Amino acid sequence: MEQQGTTGAEELREQVRAHYAAAAVSVGRAGCCGPQDGAEGGCCGSGGCGAPVEDDPAFGAVLYPRAELELLPVEASLASLGCGNPVAVADLHPGERVLDLGSGGGIDVLLSARRVGPTGFAYGVDMTEEMLDLARANAARAGAANVEFLRGTIEQVPLPDGAVDVVVSNCVVNLSADKPAVLAEMFRVLAAGGRVGISDVVAEDHLTPTQRAERGSHVGCIAGALSRTEYAEGLAAAGFTDVAVTFTHEAAPGMHAAIVRARKPRRIEED
Ligand SMILES: C[S@@+](CC[C@H](N)C(=O)[O-])C[C@H]1O[C@@H](n2cnc3c(N)ncnc32)[C@H](O)[C@@H]1O
Repeated sequence: MEQQGTTGAEELREQVRAHYAAAAVSVGRAGCCGPQDGAEGGCCGSGGCGAPVEDDPAFGAVLYPRAELELLPVEASLASLGCGNPVAVADLHPGERVLDLGSGGGIDVLLSARRVGPTGFAYGVDMTEEMLDLARANAARAGAANVEFLRGTIEQVPLPDGAVDVVVSNCVVNLSADKPAVLAEMFRVLAAGGRVGISDVVAEDHLTPTQRAERGSHVGCIAGALSRTEYAEGLAAAGFTDVAVTFTHEAAPGMHAAIVRARKPRRIEED
């Protein structure tokens, strides 16, 4: 599974951060906003004033039921950059604690917070300060009291062991230069018996890393995608059971938006 050298990983992370900072600014700026430097299309479109930041139909708010979007501040929908609806995948219940890895403008944290209700809690983790500002503003607009947005990386999540019941994520794992670390962190922060419900871009198994990179950029959520087998094996290696990776729609030739499910065993002996 992909794991870059330290310098390469840091450069890649900075490219990702700069790209999504520009996307956040283009949504969050008051008044009219033109295309921002670095915010070209592909998992981060170039929407102008009042337009979604994502304009590719394989990504963004079009993947959510209209009734759900109507419950949110419009800025949260406009900032949607995901490739699915992980909150629906995760089948959340009142009282549960949820963590969204790479929470962006906050759409999945706010939807999760509604589902888990006042006895539950939803955390978002993101490394991009501009996205955190946008997400916190959206939470204030939504009047959400049971949410917190934390600055940090998905490779080193700023939460203690066993802190949450569910991990969700929407089109972010593919952006990491150290996917084994991300999967290990998901396992660590989940309580025993906890579950993963994420959306991500996933490659067909026959595509080499070079062929994946020919189909789209890393910051555009294509080049860094794992194959279906790499994802399943990576989750199993991290300790997860009941792993399933299901393609939903094509994002590029041979590259699919997918639903990824897994469970942390109740007891380690369950492996
Ligand atoms: C494609 S956007 C998805 C945002 C959000 N999940 C959504 O559905 O709208 C990727 C987000 O992940 C964040 N991100 C990317 N790599 C990250 C990392 N290694 N650690 C923390 N956040 C990261 C970016 O800052 C950005 O907000």
